[in-house]
Amino acid sequence: MKIAVLPGDGIGPEIVAETVTLLKALDLKMEFESAPVGGSAYDLTGEPLPAATLNLAKAADAILFGAVGGPQYDTLPRPKRPEQALLGLRKELNLFANLRPAVVYPELASASTIKPEVVAGLDILILRELTGDIYFGQPRGMRTNAAGEREGFDTMHYSESEVRRIAHSGFKAAMKRGRKLCSVDKANVLETSQLWRDVVTEVAKEYPQVDLSHMYVDNAAMQLLKNPKQFDVIVTGNLFGDILSDEASMLTGSIGMLPSASLDENNKGMYEPIHGSAPDIAGKDVANPLATMLSAAMMLRYSLNQDLAAVRIETAVKKVLAQGLRTPDIYQAGTKKVGTREMGQAVLAALKA
Ligand code: IPM
Ligand code: MG
Repeated sequence: MKIAVLPGDGIGPEIVAETVTLLKALDLKMEFESAPVGGSAYDLTGEPLPAATLNLAKAADAILFGAVGGPQYDTLPRPKRPEQALLGLRKELNLFANLRPAVVYPELASASTIKPEVVAGLDILILRELTGDIYFGQPRGMRTNAAGEREGFDTMHYSESEVRRIAHSGFKAAMKRGRKLCSVDKANVLETSQLWRDVVTEVAKEYPQVDLSHMYVDNAAMQLLKNPKQFDVIVTGNLFGDILSDEASMLTGSIGMLPSASLDENNKGMYEPIHGSAPDIAGKDVANPLATMLSAAMMLRYSLNQDLAAVRIETAVKKVLAQGLRTPDIYQAGTKKVGTREMGQAVLAALKA
């Protein structure tokens, strides 16, 4: 099994290093090859997604990705910005299905800013469409209008086939879980969303065992805070999914805990923590490596068919949380504050125990 390792920028290299050490300890037949991506790749080659990195990702069985971005790159022309690497990989590899589970670990229920009784036991899956929508719609740009004023424009766009394939992913995911699917859109205002809703409703006929509901995105944002446990699987478009998954992460106590998988039609995938590069804490040995480790567990499960190994990582993470070890983002009085390395070492020890 060939794994492309793309650590990226900011805290990316630190959290990915801990995770690769953990993966190596599993003693599976995995080969790791690293390549630069994002701002660090721009610094080296002038491109955020060099051809060699893209080719490595294409040839691999799975990709482990850290994070990209940093303030020093924010003023570059858009095609040179680190985020383009991420968008380019998603598009080029056709990674249309983005799985973002939000799970509240019992030990962290009180780490959320939301009342523990609202979030305790939460286990939801946000399924975000990842290669369409306003992220990639054309035309887009900036121009000067007839009145001489600058204007910016983007195009929200979904084709029937794009909605259909993510809807199937949503129903299939629901079948493996609680058989409830909530499709989130803005069909009261947007044509794109009306099509989305129509197509999801059509696909639902093939999954009579799944209880399908529809919700407007503004209401969904509210319901996630009011009663998040009403959800099982949420399926939504690229933009709404970007926003709702950050919101859902806060139910779990820290964005530093949330893994993700981005899959193509054949379950080849890229695995990354949903948090960003956190340049403010980079290199300080304080970043939480658990989201990346949990992403590696998803990689073992979805792309490499190594369920047992996935469970070993997840169990090891639960063990260190039960031991009371906490990186600063999830620290609470009465627990033990540790850094990135120490957390990594503890998960490694728990895995080997
Ligand atoms: C995410 C991120 C990205 C996105 C950015 C970094 C381009 O926020 O993966 O959620 O908007 O998709
Ligand atoms: Mg985001």
